[in-house]
Amino acid sequence: MKMWSGRFRQPLDPAFENWQRSFEFDCRLLECELDASAAHARALKAAGVLSAEELASVLEGLEQIEERAMASPEFLDDQEAEDVHHFVEKQLVGLIGDTGYKLHSGRSRNEQIATDLRLYVRAGCDEISEALAELMLAIVDRAEQAGQVAMPAYTHMRRAEPVLVAHWLLAYIEMFFRDADRLRDCRKRANVCPLGSGALTGSTLPLDRELMANELGFSAPTANSIDATSDRDFVIEFVNTLSLLALHLSRWAEEMLLFSTQEYGFVHLPEAYSTGSSAMPQKMNGDLLELTRGKAGRVIGNATALLITTKGLPLAYNKDLQETQEPLFHAAETVLSLLPLVTGWMRSAEFDLEGMQKAAETGYMNAFAAATYLVRQGVPFRIAHEQVGKAVRLALDKSCELHGLSLEELKNIDSHFNDDFYSFVKLDNVLAIHDVPGGTAPARVREAVAAARKRLTPACEEAHAHA
Ligand code: ARG
Repeated sequence: MKMWSGRFRQPLDPAFENWQRSFEFDCRLLECELDASAAHARALKAAGVLSAEELASVLEGLEQIEERAMASPEFLDDQEAEDVHHFVEKQLVGLIGDTGYKLHSGRSRNEQIATDLRLYVRAGCDEISEALAELMLAIVDRAEQAGQVAMPAYTHMRRAEPVLVAHWLLAYIEMFFRDADRLRDCRKRANVCPLGSGALTGSTLPLDRELMANELGFSAPTANSIDATSDRDFVIEFVNTLSLLALHLSRWAEEMLLFSTQEYGFVHLPEAYSTGSSAMPQKMNGDLLELTRGKAGRVIGNATALLITTKGLPLAYNKDLQETQEPLFHAAETVLSLLPLVTGWMRSAEFDLEGMQKAAETGYMNAFAAATYLVRQGVPFRIAHEQVGKAVRLALDKSCELHGLSLEELKNIDSHFNDDFYSFVKLDNVLAIHDVPGGTAPARVREAVAAARKRLTPACEEAHAHA
């Protein structure tokens, strides 16, 4: 039986009927729907609409639906159910008879879908936080393993200054910490309960909204029934958070791809996460990285789709809102499938630490430090910059590094150059003088690695606690 056929004289156009259904995708919400329905049933009992026996029978029926769904995926093969709400009603009535129809007393699918989506987003925040914490742990481990090894750091894609490999890796950790923060924040706003909002103006039965919110682990009931049934901000926030996370993964993937080319040679692609070419036998391609970059595009597309779908909607519920489901599911599922793979990649890729260290030693990346040397002798920086620039020019002409110039040659450029210049521009010293919080001096980086690990421990524990 349909949920709404009474006032209709004609059957629906079959193509339209099938086209407007959402069960094919909102079947993902079955567990949320069953939990929310159980909470509503308890409130119906408290309001005197269901007897104790009827409540027991409804709860038993809901549980059986869950068991059947878990036992076989074909159970969800229902070409008639309009959506997950209709599906549960149909199944419940099949299991317990007409008492099943009582469950819809005093509620509307508009509050149900809003509730289900909040439960879905909340669970998504927890699962993704947990998977993200695992990735961050893998990166911190790699940073620790890299020890004191240096590499070139780039601006404008050109070698700029040497940096510790660990410092470079920790840059990604910062992005992911912000993503984790945003997920926590998003969870907070998603975690309120629309049940009891009715179709848009509040239930016509005296339902205990606090009880339903508590039952589902929400922090409170929503404050306004019109907003509660039409709001999808929490979906938009979540998917935007995911799009930023996907964007970070994409930047990471792009850099790993670059660094794994023969041209850089800093990273060896792990075979377990790469594929070959059907034509060129010698090839190994970084598919995980390319697909990560590609999938980020679609997640960002999901965020855009949500904004555009909702931007013109008057209050309260409109069926357009059904279109917010698929971008949400796609974004959540994409990111959730990506994270463990990226973690696996990160744990198995090999860094050519020797090659990185070697690359950090040449190419005048100590020129900034050389100018600092003159600054420390009292030379104004702008002058020091010019003088070191001249020294670089001379070294380029002679095909040598700055330390390949004789003291006489240096003194010809600026009398402030002395013997101790040569040790000052050695890689170890160049790294060491970046000695500010957040800088790449090895002692600072050691602290940063430890701090990241410490920050990560509660994140991991929290994620595990929610799981
Ligand atoms: N499947 C619908 C959705 O996803 C459920 C709400 C239907 N409400 C309605 N008034 N037709 O939005």
